[in-house]
Amino acid sequence: MKIITVTLNPALDKNAKVDGLVPGSKLRCHSIQYQPGGGGINVSRMLQRLGLDSHCVFPSGGDTGAHLTILLEDEGVTSNSILIKDWTRENLAVVDTKTNLQYRFGMPGNVLNEEELVSIKKELSQNLEKGDFLVLSGSLAKNLPPNYYQQLIEEFSTREPKVVIDTSGMYLKKALEQPVYLIKPNQRELAQLAGKEFLSNIEQEEFAKELVEKGKAKYVVVSLGAKGAFLACTEGVFYQTTPSVPVKSTIGAGDSMVAGLIYGIQKEYTPKEILRMGVACGVATTMSEGTQLATSKNINKALELMII
Ligand SMILES: Nc1ncnc2c1ncn2[C@@H]1O[C@H](COP(=O)(O)OP(=O)(O)OP(=O)(O)O)[C@@H](O)[C@H]1O
Ligand SMILES: [Mg+2]
Repeated sequence: MKIITVTLNPALDKNAKVDGLVPGSKLRCHSIQYQPGGGGINVSRMLQRLGLDSHCVFPSGGDTGAHLTILLEDEGVTSNSILIKDWTRENLAVVDTKTNLQYRFGMPGNVLNEEELVSIKKELSQNLEKGDFLVLSGSLAKNLPPNYYQQLIEEFSTREPKVVIDTSGMYLKKALEQPVYLIKPNQRELAQLAGKEFLSNIEQEEFAKELVEKGKAKYVVVSLGAKGAFLACTEGVFYQTTPSVPVKSTIGAGDSMVAGLIYGIQKEYTPKEILRMGVACGVATTMSEGTQLATSKNINKALELMII
């Protein structure tokens, strides 16, 4: 069973530090680090750390796209990128060392033309086999319609992929017009899906159960940030709290959790164990600075703290 991740709006993430963020004067940035970014890309990076190979599909353009590909390969992730005309965007995260506050600047994503979209579908068509995981994660390229994920799912439905969706708003709502395997909304995304501003704890659980009962998804995992997550499936609803650890940056926590959940499913864990693995990966990523993901050591540490 292969795992194919798709990232339609990748980024080259640039991290920097500055000793005092003030307007007007020239700010001297230091401690520059580059990291690959984007939902599916992060899932592939985390899976690699967990010892699972994946097929990482994303559009890559210009020198920034080439840099992103090199960074991925340095981590042992083989990229299956589609060359595009538009340059891959570069996002910036700056930590002010005086306050320890982090500022995140997100740039608009790449545009994909018709030919490039065909190439992406071709890449999937050539690689997706019956029963493979198809992970659709993150936002869409700027010019794509909100039902683009839905279109992809429909197009490959005869291969019966295990579709994993981690996205928000209309992209998520549209994607769920056909049954999928797993979704991982956070609280805000779940409320949006329900068409509400806010859901109470009980309403969240009820709505997640309803999604399972209606056959929208086999697994609904709702991430609750520092409070952990719960998983709803036909076997029931399971909760997992987070252990207390020093949190450095929550960037990539959601993507890491998705990788942990897929790992658990691949290993045929019980729902409770699948959830625990997801939470452990999310927590472990919060223990790394900036856009860096979890280390294997911290995943094991988080797991140990949760089993006790
Ligand atoms: N502050 C925190 N402390 C401990 N663990 C955290 C914290 N924030 C996130 N996590 C871990 O990461 C998981 C996913 O986090 P969260 O609910 O914030 O996802 P998300 O909103 O999808 O994140 P992302 O911004 O990466 O998309 C949580 O279930 C938890 O395991
Ligand atoms: Mg998320």
